[in-house]
Amino acid sequence: MSRTLKVPGIAYGGDYNPEQWPEEVWAEDVRLMREAGVNMVSVNIFAWALLEPSEGTYDFSRLDRILALLHENGIAADLATPTAAPPAWFFRAHPEALPVDKDGRTLSYGSRQTFCPSSPAYREAALRIARVLGERYADHPAVVMWHVHNEYGCHNGECYCDTSAAAFRVWLRKKYGDDLAALNDAWGTTFWSQWYYDWDEIIPPRATGAVPNPTHQLDWRRFCSDELLSLLKAEREVLLEAAPDTPATTNFMVMYNFDKLDYWRWAPELDVVSNDHYLQSTDPESEIDIALSGDLVRSLAGGAPWLLMEHSTGAVNWQPVNRAKTAGELRRNALAHVARGADGIAYFQWRAAKAGAEQWHSAMLPHAGTDSQIWRDVVALGADLGSLAEVRGSRGVAEVAVVWDWNAWWALELPSQPSAEVRFQGLIRTWYEPLWRSGVAVDFVRPDADLSAYKLVLAPSLYLVDEAGKANLTDFASGGGVLAVGFHSGAVDENCHIRLGGYPGAFREALGVRTDELFPLLPGDAVELSDGGTATLWSERVALAGAEAVTSYTSGPLTGTPAVTRHTYGSGTTWYVATLPDPTTLASLLSRIREEAGVEPVRTTPEGVEAVLRRGPDADYLFLINHGEEDADVEVAPRAVELLTGEKIEDGVPARVAAGGVAVVREPR
Ligand code: GAL
Repeated sequence: MSRTLKVPGIAYGGDYNPEQWPEEVWAEDVRLMREAGVNMVSVNIFAWALLEPSEGTYDFSRLDRILALLHENGIAADLATPTAAPPAWFFRAHPEALPVDKDGRTLSYGSRQTFCPSSPAYREAALRIARVLGERYADHPAVVMWHVHNEYGCHNGECYCDTSAAAFRVWLRKKYGDDLAALNDAWGTTFWSQWYYDWDEIIPPRATGAVPNPTHQLDWRRFCSDELLSLLKAEREVLLEAAPDTPATTNFMVMYNFDKLDYWRWAPELDVVSNDHYLQSTDPESEIDIALSGDLVRSLAGGAPWLLMEHSTGAVNWQPVNRAKTAGELRRNALAHVARGADGIAYFQWRAAKAGAEQWHSAMLPHAGTDSQIWRDVVALGADLGSLAEVRGSRGVAEVAVVWDWNAWWALELPSQPSAEVRFQGLIRTWYEPLWRSGVAVDFVRPDADLSAYKLVLAPSLYLVDEAGKANLTDFASGGGVLAVGFHSGAVDENCHIRLGGYPGAFREALGVRTDELFPLLPGDAVELSDGGTATLWSERVALAGAEAVTSYTSGPLTGTPAVTRHTYGSGTTWYVATLPDPTTLASLLSRIREEAGVEPVRTTPEGVEAVLRRGPDADYLFLINHGEEDADVEVAPRAVELLTGEKIEDGVPARVAAGGVAVVREPR
C-alpha cells in the first residue's frame, strides 16, 4: 500500500504550538482554523520537554486533548516527533551529547537542535520518544502523517566532537573498504605530510593552522549529511513499525544558502517531500527564489506533489531587517508554491507567539488578532486553496533540466579556489532567472539522472563530476540533446582531484574546447564581449578544439579568445559558457540555445506575468501570477475556467490577471 497523504484537496495550515498557550485559547484556535479553511496542522514539533518531564516518564494528556480537539473539528494532524529540541534534563544527564564547533567550543543547551548528531545518548532518547509516540498515536484518527524531527541540520549540521570523530572514522572505513591506502590516495595525503598510518589518526577537519585537505573536507560534508540522514531513517523505521500505513515527511530547507544536506540522498527516504521556504528581505525579486526552490523540491520529489511545510505570512525575525509582505504578496507567494507542484500550503506558525525566541515572527493569527490584514489574507487564501482542490495530484511538465549537485556545490566552495567569488547557488540563480522571465518550465536533476524526457540540459555550475555523471551528460548530448555547460565545470573528479590535460576536464571533448589557464576577474572588473555585452567574475583562455566561437573577448588580457562556444557533438550540440555574461547577454544566449533545442515557453505573457503549468489527467492548470503593476491579458485554450473565481472564460477571450493578482485557469485537454 502506498503511503500518501489523506487530506482532501490542497492541505492548508501551519505549525500549531498550543502548548505555548493556556488551554482556554485552544477553542478559539480551532474555531478560527475552521473559519480560515485550515485542514491540517503540524503539532508537537517542540513539545519534548512537556511530553517527557524526566527520562522515561511521560505525560501525553495535553497532546491527547489537542489531537482530540483537532479531530472533533475535522482538522488533520501532521504529528511531529519532538526530537529537534531535547529537554534540559537530557543534557544534564548527557553533557557529552552537546555539539562541539570547529574551534573546539562546546555549545550549551538553551535553544534548540543543540545536540551532536552522532551521540548514542541522543539517538537512544530520540528513538525512545519516537517509539512511544508512534505506538500511542498509530491509530489516532486525527493523525494523517508523521513529521519527523524538524529541519534536520538547521543548527547542527556539523559537530566536531570526539564522538563525531569516531563516527566519521566508521563512515570512512566503510566508504574505503577498510583500506587506509585507498583513503590516502583519494585524499592525496602525500601533500603536506598528511599521510595516515592508523585510522585513529583521522579527525574531523577542525580549525587548523592552514588550509585543510580538500578531500578530507568533502568527505566530512558527505559524512555529516549521512549522519543526520541515519537519524531520520532510524526514526522513520520506528514509526513504520508502529504505524505501517502512515506516511512520513521531514521538512527540507532548500535554498536560503542552507547547504548541509545532500537532499538527493534524503528525498527517497520520505513518503511525502516537504520544504520550508522563507523570503530574503534583501532580494528584490524573491518570486524567482520561490520558483527555483519549488522546481527543485518538485524534482527532489521525483515530480510528485510536495508540501510547503513552512513559510511566513509576513516578516520573519531572523534577518537583520525583517520586511513585511506587500499587498497581495502573501497570496502570490502561496499560490506560486502551488503552481510549482505543492499540494499543501502551511506556515510557521498558527498563532504569533507572545514569548520565546520567535515572538517577533509573523503568523497566521497575528498579535493584533483577527482585525488585521494578515488574518484577512489568511482567510481569503483558505478560500482560494479550497477552490483549487482539483489541482491536487497534477504535475509539472518540463523539457529543460538544470543540473544541481550538492557534491559539486560543496567542492566549489572549499577554500583556496581560483576565486572565492564563485558561488554555486548564485550561478544557478543567474541562469535560472532568464528562463523564469521567459516562462520556460524547468526541472532540476542529478548529474546521473535519466535525461530522456529533456531536450535541453543546463549545467551552470558543475565543478565536481564523477565518471557516471560525466558519461550521462555527454551521452545525452551525443545522442541528440543540447547541453550547455557553465565555466569551471568538470574540473575535478569525485575525490576533488583535478582532471588533467586542460579544463574543463570532464567536458573538454564534448564541448570541443581546451583551456590551459584560468583568469578569474576581480570584483568590480568587467571585460567586453564581441556581441556587445560585458562579462564579469570569470574568464579563461579557451582554445577551440572542434567548437566554434560564438562570442569572444574584445578587451582585457584574453582579447580575441572565445568566451562562449558551440560544438556539434555526435548528433547533438554542446555549448560552453566560459564566463559570466551580463544578464541581458546571458538571457539572449540562453534564448538562442533554448530555441535551437526546440523548447517553448509555457505561454507567452506580458512582462512580469509568471506562467506555470500543472498537468492533470483531464486538464492543464495554468497558473498566471502577475508581479507587475498593470492588469494583464493572457491567451488561454478554449473551454477554459478560472478556478479562483469559478468563472468561465469565453472562447477567444484572454484571461485577465489583475495587477498583483493570480489566476488559475483550467484548460481541458
Ligand atoms: C524554521 C523553523 C521554524 C521556525 C521558522 C522561523 O527554520 O523550522 O521552527 O523557527 O524557521 O522562520
